[in-house]
Amino acid sequence: MDVTFKIRRQNPEVPDREKPYWQEFVLSDVDPTDRVLEMLHRIKWEQDGSLSLRRSCAHGVCGSDAMRINGVNRLACKMLIQDVGERVQVEPILGLPVIKDLIVDMEPFFDHYKRVMPFFVNDNPVPQDGRERLQTQEDRELFDDSTKCILCACCTTSCPSFWANGQYVGPAAIVGAHRFVFDTRDQAGQERLDVLSEPNGVWRCRTIFNCTPACPRDIEVTKAIGEVKLAIQKGTNVGIIQTSEIH
Ligand code: SF4
Ligand code: F3S
Ligand code: FES
Repeated sequence: MDVTFKIRRQNPEVPDREKPYWQEFVLSDVDPTDRVLEMLHRIKWEQDGSLSLRRSCAHGVCGSDAMRINGVNRLACKMLIQDVGERVQVEPILGLPVIKDLIVDMEPFFDHYKRVMPFFVNDNPVPQDGRERLQTQEDRELFDDSTKCILCACCTTSCPSFWANGQYVGPAAIVGAHRFVFDTRDQAGQERLDVLSEPNGVWRCRTIFNCTPACPRDIEVTKAIGEVKLAIQKGTNVGIIQTSEIH
């Protein structure tokens, strides 16, 4: 079948292409089970080599090909043509500066992520018996969902609060903080909660819920944000929050 792609393009470095414009491409011999990413490759390789997009794994793992497909944030490598129809509109994700076509500058996104210290902190000596720092299965489950994040930015760039104020740390950074705040082996939960208590922290979330359906990893993003808000209200990290309050 034929499929028409309408792609939002922009090249800020070229004078007559510095403003966004739409360009259509028609592909023939498309199979319903072809992936949107493959079709964008066909456009680039068969019709216009200047079309720019970011991608790597092509299997929903690296998080690099987030884009707005038919008005919603998706990973192009996970979307089949049968899911998007015979007319497909493709745009860069919103709220981040466009570098070229479908490629945005991810630096502001990662700057927010870095602020929440997304790494394990524990200054105690490692156990001398050579074993790992142990925790119960119940404790591990507290942050199981937030370990699945691949930093694709689909959540943050679907959030109207982030569109209105790019200084808001955004849901992805909060999910990143959640991963460690609720890890009973970690010792820097309070520092992360302090960062998220700042004016551009977690309270910029107005519970709009765009982030949760946008997540290609099916992380319950809004729920994680709610748990972080609860932890801040308790005035400390998970250490004194009962498991029953979180579930
Ligand atoms: Fe992507 Fe989901 Fe992580 Fe947000 S929480 S960055 S949507 S994987
Ligand atoms: Fe935005 Fe998600 Fe909160 S869309 S306002 S971060 S619930
Ligand atoms: Fe890696 Fe799509 S190309 S997630």
